Amino acid sequence: MAKILVTSALPYINGIKHLGNLIGSMLPADVYSRFMRQNGHDVLYICATDEHGTPAELAAKKKNQEVNEFCKEQHEIQADIYRRFAMSFDYFGRSSSKQNLELTQHIAKKLEENGYIEEKTIKQVYSIDDERFLPDRYIVGTCPHCGYEAARGDQCEHCTKLLDPTDLIEPRSAISGSTKLEVRESKHLFLSLPKLEGKISDWIDEQEEWPILVTSIAKKWLKEGLRERCITRDLSWGVPVDREGFEGKVFYVWFDAPIEYMAATKEWADKDPENRNWKDWWYNADDVHYVQFMAKDNIPFHTIIFPSSIIGTEEPWKQVDYIKGFNWLTFYGGKFSTSSNRGIFTNQALEEFPADYWRYWLMANAPESSDSSFTFDSFTGVVNKDLNDTLGNFINRVLKMTKSKFGSEIPAGGEIGEAEKELATILDTRIADYKKYMESMQYRKATAELRAIWTEGNNYLAHAAPWVVIKEDKDKAACILRTAINVIRLYAILSWAVIPETCKKIMEGLNLDTEQPDWINKPAIEELQILPAGHAFAVPEQLFNKITPEQTEELTERYCGEI
Ligand code: MF3
Ligand code: ZN
Repeated sequence: MAKILVTSALPYINGIKHLGNLIGSMLPADVYSRFMRQNGHDVLYICATDEHGTPAELAAKKKNQEVNEFCKEQHEIQADIYRRFAMSFDYFGRSSSKQNLELTQHIAKKLEENGYIEEKTIKQVYSIDDERFLPDRYIVGTCPHCGYEAARGDQCEHCTKLLDPTDLIEPRSAISGSTKLEVRESKHLFLSLPKLEGKISDWIDEQEEWPILVTSIAKKWLKEGLRERCITRDLSWGVPVDREGFEGKVFYVWFDAPIEYMAATKEWADKDPENRNWKDWWYNADDVHYVQFMAKDNIPFHTIIFPSSIIGTEEPWKQVDYIKGFNWLTFYGGKFSTSSNRGIFTNQALEEFPADYWRYWLMANAPESSDSSFTFDSFTGVVNKDLNDTLGNFINRVLKMTKSKFGSEIPAGGEIGEAEKELATILDTRIADYKKYMESMQYRKATAELRAIWTEGNNYLAHAAPWVVIKEDKDKAACILRTAINVIRLYAILSWAVIPETCKKIMEGLNLDTEQPDWINKPAIEELQILPAGHAFAVPEQLFNKITPEQTEELTERYCGEI
């Protein structure tokens, strides 16, 4: 049994996440955690809302709320959605917690003591009417290159040229539209990444097992050379900088957010201090295997900047052992976009279909080696074919037929023969492959293997044809159906990490404990005889509903308005 620490990138507080966010971090982390728990490991899966920063402040303002009130409300909304998606977090924390404040200040202090922090005065744009400094992207104006009138201070969206806010013609505040802007000086703290470059580069070089997507991004950053990074902001919402002359300033959201992985573990431990110790997972924790899940835009922060802040403390904090990175999930080949209401958001998804439909489609189409694209046609095809036809119908047919021919207990009679042995041999290989893919987090391959395992049940049934056999040899038909019911039991165990709610219904139908089922540890031929004759079962309600062409069309129309 190993101790496995799992974290998924912390979702921003300032809006409900879309399906791309889910498959890029939380969902695969959940599948991994469930699978590892099934295999007897001591898993701790930690996530939280990422609550600081200008976007949160502005989102609160737009809703006429105090920012802490806004965050509290939004945290509950997101937590509820993830609960309904069956995310098995051990703890879902908040980066605005007092634990994170303390730990962030502690880490900054250590960095300072070890000479990795520098204070500098920089020039920034201040908006007199907004009474605040404006981050570059909150200054808009006319692009000097192409004349686009709503270019942002960091980049022109129209011609894509990188800009400096001072390049803009007629600059104004994106918040209020005010043109009363001036350049003011302000003191800030910088993390001296160049001083840590050697150590971080050695550490990256040690990571021979990491996926190419992850190491290539880290190495690209290192090759371009690390620069000092400003880790403070002139804002009121965030972790206060506890330093003289820094009143009214906070740490930059990307400085405190990853520290929340540790702080959320402390939040978890503080709920039950007698039985939980957060430092067991984070401090001198060489016995812990730590895995992070994230989309590719987060990789630089998790491979370079956060690990540097940790190394710079010169304290024995746990560093990540493995990073699983994801490309983008697109919506019909384009970006998911909150502002133009394009794509499907997690709350909407749950209004349309049960969580398992989404969980399965997303895992089967995880953007691993390249981007992948969501379309309703693909979704419909996968739900109807894999879930409904291959898995759902098999279960339904077997249990219904058994019930009508033999009653509501698994029938006795007959003996395992060649067909069953053949099935067991195939299952042994496929289950071993499936397990290997799950362990190595190759989710498209894992899901394809799971689907193949479901298909084997259908193949067996089609071959064994109990509906024909029963006319001549009732015992033999009983043995076939008994075997098939045991196949259903295996499906519930094997599919549980991916589609837990469905598996729960299946286990209920089979009168099994509906808690997390342990992984299979016997050869399939033995597993196929575990549920004995006489064991009672019930036919579960329809597990999946087919999506009709009319529904697909209607959904496409509703969600693809602007494509
Ligand atoms: N909130 C960030 C995003 O959604 C991810 C933060 S990950 C953390 O892109 F580790 F920094 F918290
Ligand atoms: Zn331009």
